[in-house]
Amino acid sequence: MAKARSLQCTFDLERIVADTDVRYIEYHDTLKSTNTTAVELLGPLLDNAPAVVLTPKQTAGRGRKGNPWWSSGGALTFSWVVNAADLPLTSERRPLISLAAGLAVRDALLDMLPNCPFVLKWPNDVLIGDRKVCGILVEQHAVAQRQAVIIGIGVNVNNSLCDAPMEIAQRATSLFDLEGHSFDLTSLLILILQRLRLRINQLTTQPRLALAETNGHNVLTGRIVTLQIGDTTITGLCMGIDDEGQLVLQTEQQVHRCASGIVVQWN
Ligand code: BTN
Repeated sequence: MAKARSLQCTFDLERIVADTDVRYIEYHDTLKSTNTTAVELLGPLLDNAPAVVLTPKQTAGRGRKGNPWWSSGGALTFSWVVNAADLPLTSERRPLISLAAGLAVRDALLDMLPNCPFVLKWPNDVLIGDRKVCGILVEQHAVAQRQAVIIGIGVNVNNSLCDAPMEIAQRATSLFDLEGHSFDLTSLLILILQRLRLRINQLTTQPRLALAETNGHNVLTGRIVTLQIGDTTITGLCMGIDDEGQLVLQTEQQVHRCASGIVVQWN
């Protein structure tokens, strides 16, 4: 079931529902933020979950730690909404969803561009070289005693970073900027949704493999990393990601296991 009150919908909503486990799509030609809309409509979305909130034009996208997320027309911006109770995961493993989402997007991008060197930057940014191509915002909210997981994903696909503010253009890229042609957004969305389901299932069946793969593709391992956690900054040698999905930083004084934070520099 898809709700699209639009005559110019750029996505094939029926194909998305047919080819994935998504039961409902809330589509709008423009939205401030698909994650915000997901929170606002959480009850009805959970009644029809897994559900997707989708727009080709997001005007006030939200990033991690309250940062804004810039995107222009041609980017893929959506949120996947599920009942936490329907996920095959104990609550201790839920923090790993964030890592699984990054792996899933990397898988899907590799399906489209098998020779492109996509890497991960903890917890779940997808990069080409040192430039970000995808950001992911995982949120948990409750409504009427039901707990929801919302995974918001923004991929720079057919947009160009030439249109972006300078500080973003310097550290991000898009598939269009890289390859010089456009991609079918419906196909990429379907690939991501399929891979997301597989990677989340893997957290139950083979959690160690999922962590090993995340570690293997994590661009930060072996680098000197500066992590900002609120008002505190830690700079240390990145030893990888531990079994709980935490970033491990070795400073001269001690080993820090960091559950959250923003990587502001890596050398
Ligand atoms: C980050 O890198 O800080 C996370 C960025 C997440 C952006 C996506 S775009 C779709 C969804 N809606 C939002 O407002 N944010 C996420």
